[in-house]
This record gives sequence, structure tokens and C-alpha cells, in this order.
Amino acid sequence: MNKIMTLTDAQPDNAKAGKAPTLPDAQTVTSVQHWTDSLFSFRVTRPASLRFRSGEFVMIGLLKDDGRPLLRAYSIASPNWDDELEFYSIKVADGPLTSRLQHIEPGDQIILRPKPVGTLVHDALLPGKRLYMFSTGTGIAPFASLVRDPETFDKFDQVILTHTCRDVADLAYGRELIEGLTNDPLIGEMVEGKLLYYPTTTREHSPRMGRITTHLRDGTLARELGLPPISAETDRAMVCGSMGLNTDMKQILEEAGLSEGANSEPAEYVVEKAFVG
Ligand code: A2P
Repeated sequence: MNKIMTLTDAQPDNAKAGKAPTLPDAQTVTSVQHWTDSLFSFRVTRPASLRFRSGEFVMIGLLKDDGRPLLRAYSIASPNWDDELEFYSIKVADGPLTSRLQHIEPGDQIILRPKPVGTLVHDALLPGKRLYMFSTGTGIAPFASLVRDPETFDKFDQVILTHTCRDVADLAYGRELIEGLTNDPLIGEMVEGKLLYYPTTTREHSPRMGRITTHLRDGTLARELGLPPISAETDRAMVCGSMGLNTDMKQILEEAGLSEGANSEPAEYVVEKAFVG
């Protein structure tokens, strides 16, 4: 019932024979990591012609059994210098795409439309001293790309990544990413002393609890990180999370005097909804 075939299903002869996919825009899964019952990340081959700016998203998906593609927007979580593409996704039991996508394995194929777009890009921000990245849930994905991009640290003296989730286990992808950066030969030296990581949980107990919006309003974040209040003169911000986070953060940033930027008109902050599969 409403079964979605992977391209492997649709192209059994080619796939079994290990031949190149015959459908356009097919990419091969190279690894899958399950973080929790509801979160996983995966890597796929990168089309040779695909150029993107760190922070952008593309449409990816699978074939339905009627042969039509079922696609959703996914932020690219890998940096633009990576040979492969990485994605970070929730698993929704009755989600049309993620109920199937969560079962992909290395060697399977997915569809990837090579047309990257998005507003969480350096081009949409004016130069500044500090870059704040505010995320909830899978909204950390575009920032996983940006914190691995040397351009981020060329452009800003300090980069603050906040990640708020309900439970401690939901922070694992971000925590491992940040830990890995320090050992990364390309980025390690660049991020040292410049990248501040600020995880919080809202339901399960953890050393730092509460919504990031509360930590901003009551001054906890500034106090804990030893930073001045956010100001339009020195600070830039990118926001990616639930609608609630995006709306509340817009208000906080506007009150601090920052205005919203776009690719066509860079300004002090940018916002994008975290996509759900
Ligand atoms: P909370 O548990 O207080 O709702 P979700 O899983 O619903 O997408 O939420 C992910 C995280 O985002 C949760 O920790 C949630 O906190 C937080 N969150 C939801 N809405 C907002 C908001 N308006 N401002 C800040 N954080 C929010």
C-alpha cells in the first residue's frame, strides 16, 4: 500500500549488476547512521557538476510505486568542499518520505535534484564580528555545513552555534560534529577558540536546560559565554528550526535592532524553516 520504491527497486537489473543508474538525478547512499529512534543521518555520492554554497538545501527523495518521485527539501549538512553529500533527518512513522527513507542502506539509490537554494548563506549577511547560529532539532543541518566551511571562520571572529532539543540523545549528532571539528585537519586550527557550542534541552534533564529564546531574553547565554548583548553593529544571526523558534527569534533579533537579509539584499540576520521529511 503506497509503497515507495528506491531506485534500486525500480532498476533491479542495473542495481544488481552494479551499473550506473539510468534514471536522472540518482545518487548512491554511501553510509547511514541512526542516532535515535527518530533521527538519522546519511551520506550519498555527490554529482560531479553540483556546486553549492554551505547552508543551502536541495530536493531529495525516492520513487513512489507509480514511478513518480516523492521529494522533500533537505539542507545539505556537509560543507561545500566535501566529496560526498550528508543529510540529517527525522523519522516520521507515517511520514510519506521519511517512513521509507529511514530504511535506506549503503548501496541504495536516492533521487537528488542538483539545484541548491536557500537563505542561510554568507551572501545574505553583511560582514560582522560574530555569527550566531540558532537551531532546534534537525535545524542544525545547514549549520553542520557552515561550521565545516573555512569561509565561516574567515568572515567572523567568533561563531556561536546553539542547538536546542527535547532530549539529551537528540543532541548527539551536533555534539559529535563539534568534537570532530577540533580533530579535523582542515578546520581544527581555524575553529580553535572561535567556535562556541551551546546545547540545551527542554524536557530531559541536562547541564543546560531551557529554550534558547529564554536564555537570550534573561541574559543566561551572554553571561555563560561571556558575550555582550546581541547588537546590529557587531552581530549577525542565522536561524533554523521550528516555526515557533523562527517567529520568536525574529522578534528577539528585530528588538535588538537586526534586520532580515536575503540573497538579493544582505542584512543582519536570516531565517529558514527546518524541513521535515
Ligand atoms: P519545548 O520542548 O519547550 O517545546 P520540536 O521537537 O517540537 O520540534 O522542538 C524542538 C525543540 O525546539 C524543543 O526543545 C522545543 O522546546 C524547542 N522549541 C519549540 N518551540 C520553540 C520556540 N518557540 N522557541 C524556542 N524553542 C522552541
